[in-house]
Parts: sequence; C-alpha cells; structure tokens
Amino acid sequence: MAARLVVLVSGAGTNLQALLDACADPEYGAQVVAVGADRAGTRAVDRARVAGVETFELPISAYDDRGAWDQALTDRVAPHEPDLVVSAGFMKLAGEAFLSRFGGRYVNTHPSLLPAFPGMHGPRDALHHGVKVTGATLFFVDAGIDTGPIVAQVAVPVEHGDTTDNLHERIKAAERKMLIYWVGRMVRNGFTIEGRKVVVL
Ligand code: GRF
Repeated sequence: MAARLVVLVSGAGTNLQALLDACADPEYGAQVVAVGADRAGTRAVDRARVAGVETFELPISAYDDRGAWDQALTDRVAPHEPDLVVSAGFMKLAGEAFLSRFGGRYVNTHPSLLPAFPGMHGPRDALHHGVKVTGATLFFVDAGIDTGPIVAQVAVPVEHGDTTDNLHERIKAAERKMLIYWVGRMVRNGFTIEGRKVVVL
C-alpha cells in the first residue's frame, strides 16, 4: 500500500508539485493525502486542489498564541495518519505538540548545505558569504532551526554574477530532484535514525 504523505507549504509549491507528479506513478510508493498551509491563497494549495488532494489553511493569526496554532496544526494533520510529513517551503517552525507527535517522521527541505546558512535566507546568506558551492538539505526536523539529522544533500555551484533569485531557482531545481528521490526511497525501503546519523535503506 502506498505510504501516506502530508505536505506543509507556504508559497509557490514547486516542491509539492514535484511530489504530486512523482506520486502519480504507483511504483513511487507514496500518495499525498493532504496539503496544509500556514496562510490563505497560496499557489501551493491551488496545485493541491488541481490534483484533487484535500487541503487546509491555518494562519497563525487565527489563534491566540503559537502553542494553540501548533496544537491545531497537529490536530489537522493527525487524522490523515501520515507515514511522513514533508515540510516543502513551509515557513513556520512546528512546536512541541507537533514534534512530539510527528518527530522522527517529519522532514524539511532547506535551500543551503546545512549546517551553513540556516534560517529564512539561505540562498542570500550563502551568496553574501561568497561561498563557491551551496545547495539544499533534506533533514528530520527537531526543536532547533534547521538543525535536525540530515537525510541527504545536493551541491549547487555558485556562479559569477548570480543574484539571490537565480541562485535560489537553480537550488530549487536540484532540491526538487533530491526531495522526490529520497522521500521515495524512504517510504519504499525504510530508514533508521541513530543520533545524528540517518540511514535510508
Ligand atoms: C524552497 O527552496 C524551500 O527549501 C524554501 O523555500 C522554497 C520553497 O519553494 N524553504 P516552493 O514553494 O516549493 O516552490
């Protein structure tokens, strides 16, 4: 039976689209059962609707505090019984309730080679630092900011004359391939996490 993915998004949803396209092939071994956003009106949620996937939108501003929002997010995701929750361009940090429920099966993709350049501006920070190689990282989310055990990374050379936008676009192209390859392999073959060491079988 196909593994169940819940995907969390905030924006354009090109990583989500890559997953939706991959899941269209039964051999891939996964289906996206729900897509959740932290804001209304994202292109990502439109993509999910076009694919006939259930969606929900939970803006933090609709809740008294972050803890209440985190609990609401947990409560919306849990009934979908995900094998894996994938944060794909989701620009919010999950809190205690979410991590205690989904820790060890909640992955995020980040547009830098962690532990370099965590946070909201990975491509910009890499460019400003003058690195010659950057990339993207798929990792298990823990309580820190982009600090969890690493599943996979892909390198992307920085080119002379790059802007943040065109560098990020090249990173995203590599990031999408990395995401669908490793998520597919994780759900089909399984994985172990021992301390910081992730082994995908
Ligand atoms: C990706 O680079 C992701 O790593 C970052 O934001 C981008 C999201 O792109 N956090 P998209 O919404 O999947 O197109």
